Amino acid sequence: MNITTIILAAGKGTRMRSELPKILHRVANRPLLQHVYDMSHEIENNTITIVYGHGAELVRNTLKNLDATWVEQKQQLGTGHAVQQCKEQISDDDTVLILYGDVPLLKLETVQQLIANVSNNTLALLTVNLDNPTGYGRIVRDNAGKVTKIVEEKDASPEEKLIIEGNTGIMAVQGGRLKTWLAQLGNNNAQGEYYLTDVIEMAVADNIEVITSQPETVDEVLGVNNRVQLSHLERVYQLEQAQNLMEQGVTLLDPARFDLRGSIEDLGIDIIIDVNVIIEGKNKIGNNVKIGANTQIKDSIIGDDVEILANCVLENAVVGVGSRVGPFARLRPETELADHVHIGNFVEIKKSTVATGSKINHLSYIGDTTVGSGVNIGAGTITCNYDGVNKFRTVIEDGAFIGSDTQLVAPVTIGKNATIGAGSTITKDTPENQLTLSRVKQISIAGWQRPIKQEK
Ligand code: UD1
Ligand code: CA
Repeated sequence: MNITTIILAAGKGTRMRSELPKILHRVANRPLLQHVYDMSHEIENNTITIVYGHGAELVRNTLKNLDATWVEQKQQLGTGHAVQQCKEQISDDDTVLILYGDVPLLKLETVQQLIANVSNNTLALLTVNLDNPTGYGRIVRDNAGKVTKIVEEKDASPEEKLIIEGNTGIMAVQGGRLKTWLAQLGNNNAQGEYYLTDVIEMAVADNIEVITSQPETVDEVLGVNNRVQLSHLERVYQLEQAQNLMEQGVTLLDPARFDLRGSIEDLGIDIIIDVNVIIEGKNKIGNNVKIGANTQIKDSIIGDDVEILANCVLENAVVGVGSRVGPFARLRPETELADHVHIGNFVEIKKSTVATGSKINHLSYIGDTTVGSGVNIGAGTITCNYDGVNKFRTVIEDGAFIGSDTQLVAPVTIGKNATIGAGSTITKDTPENQLTLSRVKQISIAGWQRPIKQEK
């Protein structure tokens, strides 16, 4: 059986009060529409069609990598009209699944149940019981409990408004039948729109039974219409991910203050994550890793037994086994720390490798540098890697000791086991094993006296 999924995503989203089309707003830094796409992409034998309209160009550009057919709905004349635009994408024998681009948390299992309920003489409809069904189409049933139609809020009688079973808008039905009903839709209703929901009454008239199912939680079928709802779904999503991590052996000191905006592809156990940590992009985190409060990690690989202290920012960095980073350290892209490296407070490292056991403990900038093993870089060391136009590399060989407050003006190489005296400005390569320093000789002036304030 082939599935055709149609994702409705043309609507404007006026209540977002945004220049950005609603479906490009993000949950966990992923556009709403991308969530729906990613879920439906898991369905087997499925082709995906996306109905777009509002913000057409931006939507297509932002999501140009999706493997889907894009169908433009130039005027948004209703959900039925939106599906009508996909006539050519619907084959008679397909099962058509209708999803909404602004309902990001819908689960695959829920959709698979829905698809399983479709047959030659059934239509599958996802409904939800709501404490407050205001705004939703209501599911009208006969005395035997069979669905007879959906009535939109604005067209509902006072009695119908009391119904708490709402239409999620998500349904699945055989393609041939759907096309027949779509051709019969009118817009004679309170909103002057072509309602997809009208196909329910048509199905019943054609002796097609409407089989309903419900999602496990209401959150799964909640749409985003404003930023309050967006923030709610963000929290629901984050809490679910947090629970998932905890089940896999991660301690989160407060699951409500943890954000994963991406993935951890290789996840160790006994990881302890303090509050307000944000993990973005694609990451790997080993066993026994501790991550301190307020730390942000993006696209990075963290080895076993690493400790990242509070308030660090890591991006596209590798941290080797047993290393310690922070507090207040910044590892910028292409930083690679080998095992047992120590990076301390207010240290910034960019496009540099640091070999085993080296220490850069305080207030340094290390850019475009190769640091050997067993190197000690004193407080306030700066690699001057940029002349305003070009960048140059610094090489610090194994066992070197760089005294505090040193500037290394690249390109420059510090030889093996070299010692650099504190306060030096190093502009030429320094020999192995020797002390090099560039420092004005210290003098003391005997008999010197402090100035005395003059009388006026
Ligand atoms: C729709 C349902 C309602 C259901 C509710 C659930 C209809 C007539 N009503 O109402 O029964 O309870 O969803 O949220 O179907 N869209 C288009 N093109 C259009 C109109 C809408 O692509 O011309 C898209 C929107 O972008 C959105 C989805 O369809 O993703 C639903 O549209 P929306 O206007 O939110 O539908 P409701 O009126 O809320
Ligand atoms: Ca809606």
